[in-house]
Amino acid sequence: MASLTVRQLDEKLKRRLRLRAAKNGRSVEDEVRTILRSAAADADSFAGAAELAHAGAAPVDPARQTAAMRVVLIIGGGIAAYKSLDLIRRLQDRGAHVRCVLTRAAQHFVTPLAAGALAGERAYVDLFDPQSEFDVGHIRLARDADLIVVAPATADLIAKMAHGHADDLATAVLLATDRSILIAPAMNPRMWAGKATQRNLAQLRADGVRLVGPNAGEMAERGEAGTGRMAEPAEIAAAAVAMLHADGALAGRRMLITSGPTSEPLDPVRVLANRSSGKQGHAIAGAAAAAGADVVLVSGPVNLPDPPGVTVVHVETAQQMLVAVERALPADVAIFAAAVADWRPLHVSGSKIKKHGRPPTIALTENPDILSTVAHRKSGRPRLVIGFAAETDDVIGNAEAKLKKKGCDWILANDVSPATGIMGGDRNTVHLVTAAGVESWPPQSKDDVAHSLIERVAAAIADIKR
Ligand code: CTP
Repeated sequence: MASLTVRQLDEKLKRRLRLRAAKNGRSVEDEVRTILRSAAADADSFAGAAELAHAGAAPVDPARQTAAMRVVLIIGGGIAAYKSLDLIRRLQDRGAHVRCVLTRAAQHFVTPLAAGALAGERAYVDLFDPQSEFDVGHIRLARDADLIVVAPATADLIAKMAHGHADDLATAVLLATDRSILIAPAMNPRMWAGKATQRNLAQLRADGVRLVGPNAGEMAERGEAGTGRMAEPAEIAAAAVAMLHADGALAGRRMLITSGPTSEPLDPVRVLANRSSGKQGHAIAGAAAAAGADVVLVSGPVNLPDPPGVTVVHVETAQQMLVAVERALPADVAIFAAAVADWRPLHVSGSKIKKHGRPPTIALTENPDILSTVAHRKSGRPRLVIGFAAETDDVIGNAEAKLKKKGCDWILANDVSPATGIMGGDRNTVHLVTAAGVESWPPQSKDDVAHSLIERVAAAIADIKR
């Protein structure tokens, strides 16, 4: 067969392809071959949407390679349905695109309008609605998703799922999907304990359906308490994200990342600080978490929200950062993006230093070098230690010298001269310096730098046992 050259793939798609290839331990070319083979086989066996849905195969859908996490949220008919509106937001906060399907019973508790307004897309309710079947259809709803979440999962919905019913849109989507399913049961404790419910749940577990909750507590009905309360939206969102990440290229990897400036006190009101915004380090932490890594981010003071799905340890000084970093070890990979203050005031005054004639002389002492300390560890050194080099002159030369001196494996060097706008800005131009040489990356957003770096990290440690 003729060889194929594919041009004009956008950067995001290329990135997803590289990540996918790294995860499967294949070259990008082999990965593309596998995808094409699978797509061709899928086209051959295409004999109508319904058959495809029942085939259980997972043909490659190009949109799936590029989109953010896509969640179909099926809202069942229980009083806990009102919490599902909050769940939409929680999932969105964690970077998911949410599509809602409401059962007929759910519409007694929440309206499709409310769910659709929060989701930013009409909510789907009817299996036989010609417009939604034409636009999206239950088969596409079932397949254009990375995860299906059922919340609240009522006893009735659980029973239907266990027996493969498909008499409405929600159950048809559930039957047709080959994606992972997470259910958040919610019902009266007696219904939860009922033999039929437990039998149905055993069947769903055996089918690979995952559960979050139910929790114990008071029920909506006065005087009723026990196990049956739907898990809180934050718990459901966390479980959903964990499932989505479980098959990421960095799933099962522990990563430690430092970010932001440090702030070194001089007295109770004054500090020595620097202009680092933390944007690059935070973007790396977010990209690592999105690739499934278990991430600890040790951050100096920044004006940024904590990246979703990341454990963040907030510190002020370099000494605190070192303590937090050592506590967060062991890790498979450590990335030091923080702009750590090289010096701190030797004496920290307990009270505000007053103006008494001549300005004071501030004696400084050197801070610990966190990157160098970790990179030189005799035991428990992360497999891959990556530093940054913030330079204003001879960027590459200084970075090469730092690579050796600090004992790290890679350095990402950038020019932080004021004219570049990199310090505090949203874009970055970096050079990846390794023992093998220097690779200059084109100017790009800090998010793109983060994704490219994470992709490289995933490829570099793909062969190392988890
Ligand atoms: N670094 C660190 N601890 C320090 C200083 C720096 O962990 N006390 C790390 C930074 O997070 C970065 C790398 O070392 O990954 C290089 O930081 P940079 O500020 O470029 O270099 P310095 O070591 O501070 O050297 P110089 O200021 O002389 O360029």
